[in-house]
Amino acid sequence: MDDFTHIIDFYKNLDRLGPGGEAETLRAWNIIKPATDAPTAIADIGCGTGAQTEILARQAGAAQIIAVDFIVEFLESARARFAKAGLSVQTLNANMDSLPFAAESLDIIWSEGAAYNMGFEKAALYWNRFLKPGGFIALTELSWLSDISPEALPERLRSYWQNNYPDIETISGNIARLERGGYEIVSHFSLPGHCWTENYYQPVQAEFAPFLARRNYSAEAEALVAETREEIALYNAYGDIYGYEFYVARKVAHIIY
Ligand SMILES: C[S@@+](CC[C@H](N)C(=O)[O-])C[C@H]1O[C@@H](n2cnc3c(N)ncnc32)[C@H](O)[C@@H]1O
Repeated sequence: MDDFTHIIDFYKNLDRLGPGGEAETLRAWNIIKPATDAPTAIADIGCGTGAQTEILARQAGAAQIIAVDFIVEFLESARARFAKAGLSVQTLNANMDSLPFAAESLDIIWSEGAAYNMGFEKAALYWNRFLKPGGFIALTELSWLSDISPEALPERLRSYWQNNYPDIETISGNIARLERGGYEIVSHFSLPGHCWTENYYQPVQAEFAPFLARRNYSAEAEALVAETREEIALYNAYGDIYGYEFYVARKVAHIIY
């Protein structure tokens, strides 16, 4: 539990909690482009401190947007962000694997860098029931950027993701997962490098020193910083082999998983 406190303390003041960018959120939004005066219902699952929710809310006109996360401190930061921007966004403190939405009640499910917490395929399958027929899902997910076989990967890279996210798949593998989940792929694109570096890792690195000081250089705080430094070094070395893919897909079959 103590570890969790450190993680929350580290991330709660960050603008975004994973790789992403305004242009990329807008690109995915424009692929779906709902009529903004329609009573569209959108859930942003694993919203964190609300970076992408704010972008959606600015575009979404009369839509009802519900920002969902299971960490109250992140929702507090998100609420402060929405209030400052004068945006009306509902927040919901809930676990992504046990959501209170009615069946077929949502037009769009959005989730940037969060579905992996449930497992990409499980999340796609479970969330299907909440979408109206023809509704959309827009997700970013860590992916191998080519159909490389695990044996061909550099050992350091392979063992890092084996330990940290064994569920990582190729882009074609993730599209197949979406198809098994009752969706047809509409479009997908890779997040460019600056979504990782300028938008995410640079602010993360700037937070190391104040975080360590706040936590009195505790062993847990030092460990979190060391792990994050390793993650960044890995991305700098191998960011051409893996990355975040934005997947936009339409629900074509109703699945109760
Ligand atoms: C990598 S962060 C991404 C946050 C945000 N979408 C962004 O890109 O800035 C993943 C988010 O998922 C949330 N999360 C993780 N597991 C969850 C769960 N089981 N239910 C709800 N939210 C969860 C975390 O609290 C965190 O805010």
